[in-house]
Amino acid sequence: MEKVRIGFIGVGGIAGAHLNILSKMEDVEIKAICDINPQTLKRRAEEFGVQACYEDYREMLDKEELDAVYICVPPFAHADMEERAAEKGLHMFIEKPVELRMENAIRKHEAIKKAGVIASVGYCARYLDISDKVRELLKDRTVELVLGYFMGGAPGTPWWRQRDKSGGQLVEQTTHMVDIARFFVGDVEAVNGAFVALTKPSPDWTIDNASVVTLYFESGAIGAITSACMLGQGFKTGLDLFARDFIVEFTYGGIRIREPGSPPQEIKAGVNMYYEENRAFIDAVKTGDRSLIRSPYEDAVKTLEVTLAADISARERRVVELKFKG
Ligand SMILES: NC(=O)c1ccc[n+]([C@@H]2O[C@H](COP(=O)([O-])OP(=O)(O)OC[C@H]3O[C@@H](n4cnc5c(N)ncnc54)[C@H](O)[C@@H]3O)[C@@H](O)[C@H]2O)c1
Repeated sequence: MEKVRIGFIGVGGIAGAHLNILSKMEDVEIKAICDINPQTLKRRAEEFGVQACYEDYREMLDKEELDAVYICVPPFAHADMEERAAEKGLHMFIEKPVELRMENAIRKHEAIKKAGVIASVGYCARYLDISDKVRELLKDRTVELVLGYFMGGAPGTPWWRQRDKSGGQLVEQTTHMVDIARFFVGDVEAVNGAFVALTKPSPDWTIDNASVVTLYFESGAIGAITSACMLGQGFKTGLDLFARDFIVEFTYGGIRIREPGSPPQEIKAGVNMYYEENRAFIDAVKTGDRSLIRSPYEDAVKTLEVTLAADISARERRVVELKFKG
């Protein structure tokens, strides 16, 4: 295939970032776009010179000849998009989190598997060169403790502050830290969560303000992932990993390595993670090489389960064992 023909479902914030990158690739054609918001649809059509515009994704999938589809809608809005795309044999790039309910995610995972299509999920941090470096540094070390943070303000999109639409900060945002922790340390077998919401900035704010989640990794390592979204300012986003005589602090911008007796060593990220995940997806579609995809759907379902189980754990005040094995 000379050019990969792509359709977009949802062309809001993050889709804009993907469209910007893809529109500069010579082997990509943005063939059609879809959004339920006519103003957003018109704006993106003009910005990226797209002729075929739809307000209904089913119509777009039925009418357009596509190779792949980008699904960039909020967590609550996925409906049967993945199943329909899979039925049509379309490869998919899907934004995280993939769903808000495990049963839906598992159903979609089965549909994707049955269709044999490539499904890549937007856990972009996996594509950083410093993520490779962290994995290399940890290869011969035993991580015992992981501390993760996503502490700051709430994004402006109105659905984000509604629990039934976003799933809350851990499911929607801190999921990036849970996922990269899994990428570095391996699968999680159980979680224990505690959430708090003592204040409310507006009546439509139905999510928690902060949380602490204990992770029990299969390797035996333990972790604590903290979230806060009531701070009104950025504070801390990253992951610290601790092994004997060794600390590595990971952020999207770079890593810092600490070893006793040596000054801390800093390595800056050398690639754009959004470019890398898009390039990997397009190359995988063109060549059929699935090994290029660092966050396949099945793996993203495991990350989703960690965050949803933490929620159950908090409500029921008990440790919750994870079940999904792929
Ligand atoms: N990987 C990342 O770094 C990253 C960054 C930001 C957002 N995201 C994820 O991307 C997703 C979207 O977030 P966003 O910030 O772009 O949200 P957004 O609200 O800016 O955009 C979502 C768009 O989807 C459209 N939409 C909703 N339902 C639809 C439907 N049924 N059919 C077609 N269009 C529909 C909306 O009208 C809107 O334009 C979220 O899951 C979010 O977590 C990922």
